[in-house]
Amino acid sequence: MEPSIVLAMHTHPATALALDGFASHATASSTSNAADTRARSASGDHVARLQARVRELASELMRVQETTRRHVAQELHDSVGAELTAARFALAGVETWLPADAPQQCTAALETAQRSLDAVTQATQQAVADLHAPTLDKGIVCALSHWTNSFAVRTGLRMSFVCAADARLTRLPADASLAVFRVAQEALNNIAKHARASGADMRIETTGAHLTIVVSDDGVGIPPHAGQDERQFGLAGMRARCNAFDGELRIVAPATDARGTTVRARFAWKALLGNAARPRARRTAIRL
Ligand SMILES: Nc1ncnc2c1ncn2[C@@H]1O[C@H](COP(=O)(O)OP(=O)(O)O)[C@@H](O)[C@H]1O
Ligand SMILES: [Mg+2]
Repeated sequence: MEPSIVLAMHTHPATALALDGFASHATASSTSNAADTRARSASGDHVARLQARVRELASELMRVQETTRRHVAQELHDSVGAELTAARFALAGVETWLPADAPQQCTAALETAQRSLDAVTQATQQAVADLHAPTLDKGIVCALSHWTNSFAVRTGLRMSFVCAADARLTRLPADASLAVFRVAQEALNNIAKHARASGADMRIETTGAHLTIVVSDDGVGIPPHAGQDERQFGLAGMRARCNAFDGELRIVAPATDARGTTVRARFAWKALLGNAARPRARRTAIRL
């Protein structure tokens, strides 16, 4: 059995509050069964309201993040991208006008500058592509298949993508597809950034109640306290996206001296398919 690393951020605030609620009602149960039943029911309602509130806040966080990503992508494209293009033209001009008898060091320095500029341009283009919302018109399976292919080409990692045949995957509303895509994208980006892996596998698994994205690699393994640094938003963002759709994020490390990391991001079908139709009025009706 694989031991799982329990991330500190995994604690669900509603669960903690629910336990508090039950603890305080335990005394009432010793005096009256009826009072106990009422207390449990009130406590259950309270938990349900808190869970709904957590979902609402997680969804709101996702909306704000997507707006910010669009803004940063636009800025990067328009300002940094434009400056890089100007610098490329300027260097091309230098190359053209460089006298034939210019010192060899001068030509070598020019080549180095052009290479760095190419590298920065490529990194910027990739950042803009990562930040932009992907085209999900052809569905989540097509978007993820396309993304894993381009990831393999870009990183040189051996990659596989396996997807359950489930018609519900074709009916995901846009916000649900984007959440699933972003979680998978961050899991792969983490592999490229941290895992030092030679290969990665992505699977979409489905059951009656859940859609699960499973991303595993054969890299160095995730450190036990990963995700607790406040400056790291990747795992926290993945967890928030799962929470927004009544799911959870689990990171599984292999047994002691084996390698690799497995990320399991679970979403509830009911929340994924229901969000588009979730009435606005219900949001404002939630009171804490
Ligand atoms: N697949 C992985 N293999 C090894 N370490 C990982 C992997 N995914 C995440 N990590 C670790 O978890 C940390 C937190 O990840 P994340 O929250 O995405 O932040 P960031 O990617 O910005 O560092 C990373 O800094 C890294 O140490
Ligand atoms: Mg990350």
